[in-house]
Amino acid sequence: MEQTFIMIKPDGVQRGLIGDIISRFEKKGYYLKAMKFMNVEKSFAQQHYADLSAQPFFAKLVDYIISGPVVAMVWEGKDVVLTGRRIIGATRPWEAAPGTIRGDHAVEVSRNVIHGSDSVENGKKEIALWFPGGLAEWKSNLHPWIYEN
Ligand code: GTP
Ligand code: MG
Repeated sequence: MEQTFIMIKPDGVQRGLIGDIISRFEKKGYYLKAMKFMNVEKSFAQQHYADLSAQPFFAKLVDYIISGPVVAMVWEGKDVVLTGRRIIGATRPWEAAPGTIRGDHAVEVSRNVIHGSDSVENGKKEIALWFPGGLAEWKSNLHPWIYEN
C-alpha cells in the first residue's frame, strides 16, 4: 500500500500537538509504520528540503526545522499521500480549512506545525532518507473493517 513521510515540526512538538496529530492519522485508518523523536542536523534538514534551496526563505526554513526535536513518521494506507496532505491542510495556514491540522493549529507559514510528502515519488525518497533501516511490517485485525481488500 501507499506510504507517506510525515514530520511534526519543532513548533508542533513544543506546543504539545504530537498526540492530536498522531490521533488524526490513526483514527482515519492509516498504519503507523515507523516513528522516531529526534534532533535534525543542519545538513540533513537542507537535504530534506533540497528542492526549496533556491527559495528566499530556505535558510529560515532550515533554522526552523533544526530549532528543536521533531517527530518523523511513516504512515501507510490507501491514497495516504494526497489524503494526508488534505488532513494537514494548505501550506499557508490562513488558507487552510478549519478541521485540518494547519487550519486548527497554525497561523504563520513559517510555523505550520507539520510536513507531509507531496507525491508518492517524493514520499519514497523521504522515507529512504529518514528511515534507511526500513519499516515495521504489521496489519491490524481491524483491517477488513477499514479496507475492502
Ligand atoms: P512541507 O510539508 O513542510 O513540505 O510544506 P508544503 O509542502 O505544504 O510547502 P512547501 O514544500 O512549498 O514548503 C515547505 C515549507 O517551507 C512550508 O511548510 C513552510 O514551513 C515553509 N515555507 C513555505 N513558503 C514559505 C514562505 O513564504 N516563507 C517562509 N518563511 N516559509 C515558507
Ligand atoms: Mg513540501
